[in-house]
Amino acid sequence: MNQDAFHAVDQFVADTLLVEDAALRAAVDAAESAGLPAIQVSPPQGKLLQLLVRLLGAKRILEFGTLGGYSAILMARALPADGRLISLEAKPEYAEVARRSIERAGVGERVDVRVGPALEALPVLEEEGAGPFDLVFIDADKVNTPNYFNWALDRTRAGGLIIADNVVRDGTLGDAADPDEATVAQRRLHEELRGDPRVSATTIQTVGAKGYDGFLIALVEGA
Ligand code: SAH
Ligand code: DHB
Ligand code: MG
Repeated sequence: MNQDAFHAVDQFVADTLLVEDAALRAAVDAAESAGLPAIQVSPPQGKLLQLLVRLLGAKRILEFGTLGGYSAILMARALPADGRLISLEAKPEYAEVARRSIERAGVGERVDVRVGPALEALPVLEEEGAGPFDLVFIDADKVNTPNYFNWALDRTRAGGLIIADNVVRDGTLGDAADPDEATVAQRRLHEELRGDPRVSATTIQTVGAKGYDGFLIALVEGA
């Protein structure tokens, strides 16, 4: 097994099961032209997010980490017309690229991109009474994943989901001695969730066009 096979399978899945229309392709192209890193979710992962939005009947979504708006467009498209997605992005130039692509994709009315470090946006959301959310997708700076998760936990409805991307990190999640701060943060999040009655969670390892990583999916339990 190698990276070529992972690529080929993602490509086959995309060719058979996924739809990439002009606006989505334009979003990827715009991000590339503007020099954004190609670290958006893979197309099959994006489809999973869409399926989960639909399964949840989600109307309120919070995303940490917009980049060029790829995952935001996919999730927003799975929302009903009165659904709303707030996406937090630290970099103004990324947010600008994302807003244009989101508009072009026809979901501008459903998506609110907020610029600034997510930790600074949270008190503002709190003040506005944003939420409760049906789905929270955590995909920003990885050292803060546990902080975002803990904030989201109090603001996600029972039966809602919190998903954190990039928790496996080339398998370092399984290495207690790994010194990388981002890995330490994912391990700490898992330890914190051990026996926490407020959530039922699992982590799924993934391979694919984006390499070896994985995401944590947590179902928020009732009170
Ligand atoms: N969810 C996107 C990918 C996000 S990549 C997709 O799949 O299409 C991670 C993003 O998080 C980057 O755009 C990065 O600028 C942003 N980011 C990094 N630190 C952040 C912070 N403190 N607050 C908000 N966004 C941050
Ligand atoms: C990075 C961020 C991501 O969200 C991702 O899926 C892959 C890589 C990064 O910051 O390098
Ligand atoms: Mg990610």
